[in-house]
Amino acid sequence: MPRQPVGERLVCYLPAMRRAVCPGSYDPVTNGHLDIIGRAAGVVDELVVAVLVNKNKKTLFSVEERVEMLREVTSDLPTVRVDTWHGLLVDYCVANGVKAIIKGLRAVSDFDYELQMAQMNYQLTAVETLFMPTNPLHSFLSSSLVKEVATYGGDVAHLVPESVHTRLVRRLTERA
Ligand code: PNS
Repeated sequence: MPRQPVGERLVCYLPAMRRAVCPGSYDPVTNGHLDIIGRAAGVVDELVVAVLVNKNKKTLFSVEERVEMLREVTSDLPTVRVDTWHGLLVDYCVANGVKAIIKGLRAVSDFDYELQMAQMNYQLTAVETLFMPTNPLHSFLSSSLVKEVATYGGDVAHLVPESVHTRLVRRLTERA
């Protein structure tokens, strides 16, 4: 994009298409993810929720199932699109004209690794990372903990969307 140096600053004189990505494993999507997705969609023109595929990570749901669940629970958000990608997140960003990665930060403990990834991603392709503080209601919430609690019979109905909860209970029952 053309940029005009003005003094010390670089000023964009063409409006950018503000397309951002919320990447993750989403195995499965939780209310914490949904909070970030909804708020992120409010500050960009288009938000891609990208299910990143990590072949070394064992997941409870297939990529197709994770995408389906995400599509169901974001169907009320017209500017949100769900996609998948095998490989580096920055390559997805370059291939799809994505200007920024938006990540939720639950607590300071998330920050070290997220900062490292943000810096790595920036030096690879100059893609920006924007951090959004998680709603404190969800700061303890992760897909892994939801799966663990549900596996041992704990109630997680208030932590994930209803359709996800139904699938989660069904999957864990099948596996038991
Ligand atoms: O939901 P998760 O598992 O915490 O998401 C992590 C994810 C998928 C966003 C991260 O592992 C990622 O970006 N993976 C894609 C591969 C990649 O680009 N790795 C280099 C990161 S600097």
